Amino acid sequence: ANPAYSTRSCRYGAEALREAALLIRAGEPVAVPTETVYGLAADATDSHAVAAIYSAKGRPSFNPLIVHVSDRAMAERLADFSPVAMRLADRFWPGPLTLVLPVRADSGLSPLVMAGLPTVALRLPAHPAMRALIRESGRPLAAPSANRSGSISPTRAEHVLASLNGKVRMILDEGPTSEGVESTIAAPDADEVRLLRPGPVTAAMLEEASGLPVVVGNGAHKIEAPGQLESHYAPSKPVRLNALRAEKDEYLIGFGLMPCHINLSPDANVREAAASLFAALHIADASAAVKIAVAPIPIEGIGAAINDRLKRAAA
Ligand code: TXA
Ligand code: MG
Repeated sequence: ANPAYSTRSCRYGAEALREAALLIRAGEPVAVPTETVYGLAADATDSHAVAAIYSAKGRPSFNPLIVHVSDRAMAERLADFSPVAMRLADRFWPGPLTLVLPVRADSGLSPLVMAGLPTVALRLPAHPAMRALIRESGRPLAAPSANRSGSISPTRAEHVLASLNGKVRMILDEGPTSEGVESTIAAPDADEVRLLRPGPVTAAMLEEASGLPVVVGNGAHKIEAPGQLESHYAPSKPVRLNALRAEKDEYLIGFGLMPCHINLSPDANVREAAASLFAALHIADASAAVKIAVAPIPIEGIGAAINDRLKRAAA
């Protein structure tokens, strides 16, 4: 059993970054912001460090992790890039797109990262804190969302602290994340792109950039993204979707011009709604109401990802 740590939240800066990189080199996980959600990052080449991520999150070890890199050269040392993969990376990296690619035999990655799959999920994030931590530690970083497995994802350092207090030594605090929902996960094949998790990079954007049809889900492939099977992003209270008004015992999360307890976007803007989604769920979960209701959110653009996360929260 792990000893209880005291968790320190540090404002992002040169000194905090240096300390965080030392912890990474020592095989310890550190919580760090990305443009999507805060991640719980550890050296992806060190099995002890990767095991510490699974243990801090209480995450089942058959659910593989995303590996974060600071540049294309690092990515190409870890996985094989087909021409389609190259096109998608050219277009969307750095940014909120994760590519599932064949892992190279000489990648040096801990096998725990892939959880037995012949592929690795790679992402080159846009956030300066995550990229600086990768550069400063000189390691590719495995990083799932920095929350206990199955609970609401963290978009602020306070969310990480509430979920992982005593389970991680350090949180790099750089304020609220800008995108608000996790990266799009896509597996590029020769003749199609499989969209494994909707996110800020939409199906239409993938289709346009790849010149190939995008199929939602895993197509003919046997192995489903394991994380997609579980109920995820779940508050501790029942969640009712497509609500137009609050019942007496409900906390209503609204959208656009409607009376509600908290509004994802009074201007009915889906990007703004994505950025405030998880914080609103955290607040609703902590409220006195016994149930949560959520207004209908349009499925345009990043709205598809919002609806995906809400469906899982309600499952
Ligand atoms: O925005 C994000 O992607 C955030 C930030 C921290 O970068 N990370 C994140 O990681 O959402 P996580 O662990 O919560 O989600 C990783 C997802 C899981 O659903 C997992 O099953 C899938 O990626 N995954 C990882 N490796 C895979 C692989 N080789 N094939 C298919 N799915 C994979
Ligand atoms: Mg997660």
